[in-house]
Amino acid sequence: MTPAIASAILPLLRRMDPERAHDLALRALRLGLAGRSRAPDDPALAMTVLGRTFSNPIGLAAGFDKGATAAGGLMRLGFGFVETGTVTPRPQPGNPRPRLFRLEQDNAIINRMGFNNAGLEAYVRQLMTLSARPVPLGANVGINKDGADPERDYPALIAAVAPHADYAVINISSPNTPGLRDLQGERQLRAILAAVAQVPNRPPVLVKVAPDLSDDGLAAVVETCVTHGVQGLIVGNTTISRPPGLQSPHAHEAGGLSGAPLFALSNILLARAFLLARGRLTLVGAGGVASGADALIKIRAGASLVQLYSAFAYQGPALLPRMKAELAAALKEAGFAGVRDAVGTLARELGARQLSGL
Ligand SMILES: Cc1cc2nc3c(=O)[nH]c(=O)nc-3n(C[C@H](O)[C@H](O)[C@H](O)COP(=O)(O)O)c2cc1C
Repeated sequence: MTPAIASAILPLLRRMDPERAHDLALRALRLGLAGRSRAPDDPALAMTVLGRTFSNPIGLAAGFDKGATAAGGLMRLGFGFVETGTVTPRPQPGNPRPRLFRLEQDNAIINRMGFNNAGLEAYVRQLMTLSARPVPLGANVGINKDGADPERDYPALIAAVAPHADYAVINISSPNTPGLRDLQGERQLRAILAAVAQVPNRPPVLVKVAPDLSDDGLAAVVETCVTHGVQGLIVGNTTISRPPGLQSPHAHEAGGLSGAPLFALSNILLARAFLLARGRLTLVGAGGVASGADALIKIRAGASLVQLYSAFAYQGPALLPRMKAELAAALKEAGFAGVRDAVGTLARELGARQLSGL
């Protein structure tokens, strides 16, 4: 099946219960039925960060393949990288259903999945079955709802995934595990990162933050990450806010909102993080990306790499060649030789204007 055919089946999946449709899509990917991308990426899209070369900067965000069961298929669709997880130390069922809602009128999703996953042992077993990693693979780790000890669990998770992943992500920003987002506080984060820093042979570590962080909260996260040798930030996770103007009947469901309504909010946080980090962290931008033009805005706001979930869930694999062509064209039109030249240009302009009081 080609990516175009796989995308053509999406309208059928969209009529199903969203979680069932998602499970079917994962199964198709696992069987290699979703197609594969063979076209080489435009060299202007290449990025070298986190000790790896990415042939394009557009990656799959965490949560789509929590158990890494379809990672082999996903890595061949044309993404520049694929992040699997969130995985927790022990299996857990997550929240009661329904817990996944399409906000079609808003090009958005609300989820309160609650880290439903088969646990670390099964996850690592899946990663071990991958014969190769055609693109960089990220492992996103989190803690169980019950019986968690973050200072014990995060280092253990990172040690277990280290041999199988090109980077690891400390998820302290999902809104559906009670207390998780409090770990973004300076004291708690410092303790976790100090413990993670003891893990031998760890891959580059990134911290994934919530788009709802305050300015001071973000500044503290940036400094704590730099101090403890964290290599990057993912900005960010879903929001618990509900931006005005949402049309969908599901807009008031509890959980994290993702997709188009998250774009502006996450871009502001990203640009702030870029100015605060002053080149000391690699930033990955996520939130509402659905086109090459959106990806370029994220890159100009400070992202070296970009991730998407909601737009991919709505549009399927045919989105990828389209986005990559659009991004290459948008870079050219804006006068950038490649992604690298565009990173942070908008954040720098905005920062300079603010400093001069305009
Ligand atoms: C159904 C669903 C499940 C998600 N699960 C996770 C998760 O397990 N871990 C995580 O770090 N982020 C998770 N996310 C957040 C995404 O990785 C991403 O940060 C967010 O959706 C914003 O990107 P988007 O607007 O392109 O969807 C999830 C998002 C959705 C919609």
